[in-house]
Amino acid sequence: MGQETETLESNPQTFYDRIADVHNLAMKVNGYRSSVANYLQSLDLKLDENSLVLDAGSGTGIVTLGFQTAGFRPKKCVALDLSFNSLEVSREQFERDENADAGNISPVQGNVIEMPFAEETFDLILTCGVLEYVALEDGLKEFARVLKTGAKLVLIPVKPSLVGAVLEILYNFKIHSIEETEQIAARYFKIVGEHEFPITEPMGWSKMIFLLEKK
Ligand SMILES: C[S@@+](CC[C@H](N)C(=O)[O-])C[C@H]1O[C@@H](n2cnc3c(N)ncnc32)[C@H](O)[C@@H]1O
Repeated sequence: MGQETETLESNPQTFYDRIADVHNLAMKVNGYRSSVANYLQSLDLKLDENSLVLDAGSGTGIVTLGFQTAGFRPKKCVALDLSFNSLEVSREQFERDENADAGNISPVQGNVIEMPFAEETFDLILTCGVLEYVALEDGLKEFARVLKTGAKLVLIPVKPSLVGAVLEILYNFKIHSIEETEQIAARYFKIVGEHEFPITEPMGWSKMIFLLEKK
């Protein structure tokens, strides 16, 4: 078999197309949405009714839903992911959820390392658990390209941890070290905050947050 041959597990799109419903259920019960909402509410994001926001690697939409639950109502939220099935689940959730402004959320199928947006398009990017599937340099450079100068990137990576190591096997991704993340992020962004979730919030068992501002 040639090297190009991909198994279900080695292709994130096929993998997440297959597990979209199960993954969504897991995200619903683990409280990630309110952890994200509480964190975002604590920030002064300076968004208004003209702002454009991107959830990069949006999956079934949990981070976008957290953002909407926090009360932000920009002009448009774009939820971008490789997995068509995950985007469909997210679309249904946006439409059903009374805290979501579904008419202004656009699910888009795309790759985070080559996004179909012009330079300096977005006023905010949110991203959780996707850069683990790509080279950090490629992902962060592309986020910097489509983000406006001075705008924020809320980067929620999987942190090196026991739970992270289990997820790394289950979801077939690669955790980037904190040092590497800081080093590569500093090429394009000012690191303006680092957040650890309280131990009482399941999100903190595997995730942390870097608050970055585009140079
Ligand atoms: C662990 S899930 C996280 C989803 C969502 N951000 C969340 O927090 O629930 C990873 C997501 O990244 C997507 N993904 C993986 N590689 C991608 C790429 N190169 N471009 C866009 N999406 C990608 C997968 O389809 C999947 O939905």
